[in-house]
Amino acid sequence: GTTLGASAAEKGRYFGAAIAGGRLGDSTYTRILRTEFNSVTAENEMKWDATEPQQGQFNYTNGDRILNEGLSNGSKVRGHALLWHNQEPQWARSMEGSALRNAAINHVTQVATHYKGKIHSWDVVNEAFADGGSGGRRDSNLQRTGNDWIEAAFRAARNADPGAKLCYNDYNTDGINAKSTGIYNMVRDFKSRGVPIDCVGFQSHLGTTIDSTYQANLQRFADLGVDVQITELDVAQGGNQANIYAAVTRACLAVSRCTGITVWGIRDTDSWRTGENPLLFDGSGNKKAAYTAVLNALNAG
Ligand code: G3I
Repeated sequence: GTTLGASAAEKGRYFGAAIAGGRLGDSTYTRILRTEFNSVTAENEMKWDATEPQQGQFNYTNGDRILNEGLSNGSKVRGHALLWHNQEPQWARSMEGSALRNAAINHVTQVATHYKGKIHSWDVVNEAFADGGSGGRRDSNLQRTGNDWIEAAFRAARNADPGAKLCYNDYNTDGINAKSTGIYNMVRDFKSRGVPIDCVGFQSHLGTTIDSTYQANLQRFADLGVDVQITELDVAQGGNQANIYAAVTRACLAVSRCTGITVWGIRDTDSWRTGENPLLFDGSGNKKAAYTAVLNALNAG
């Protein structure tokens, strides 16, 4: 293939980008988006603070713009994210206990119902595990409602949209380490008890190296019977950027249940990592060496 999306499709995968509604009026941005990518993720517009700014009052205007941009271009749409301790709306931040649990589950039900049948994969829960060596849950007001909040969210999402793949998504899980093992144990437990989970997202916000166990880590999750996806890929600029992008691409292609890759933005100037130039296109929309490395990796073999 001659584009990221077409080349990934030839390998049975998608290649996506996180997009921001505020940039859709930029013709360079939309040209690259519509040419190169066959999946989109809302960078912010489907999060809890965006979709339920006041309790029980839902606003889908900006999320729908992202959805319709993707669908009109024939792309898959990843849903990001139903529950996340960060970017909770102001009204939820002071809540706790059963009131918060009920509000959170209602949020999952309402948003997943609104987008029913349109979302390829939902990040049902985002970033619920702690960094460091504990392998345990991150403290948050959601976690303090009880350890079963994650499975309750997955059950609610399944009931609302049985056709969507339901994912757990996190960062610093880019190799076999204490945090990824904590998540692995949760997924294994969910599978053994019939809690509905279909996929695990590996954000892959990477620095100047890639963990030697990156592919093995994807494979051990796949072996539990879930799909894996690279969900928020970006890589620090440096001598190794193109090589790291290629290595991630090859790792996904080597794992049959790795169904797609999403980069977290289009041009370096669109990135949340200000000044790090971590994406595939430069600020003018030109293809970088990292782009060519990914395309070649997708087309190899
Ligand atoms: O929309 C407001 C605008 O009205 C206001 O004037 C401006 C002032 O700061 O803020 C704007 O909101 C910002 C929003 O991005 C939209 O640009 C928020 O402050 C800012 O915090 C928010 O950052 C987002 C971040 O998640 C929030 O934690 C980034 O764009 C987004 O790339 C980032 O994405 C996360 C994933 O969801 C989860 N994984 C990590 C990843 C990177 O942090």
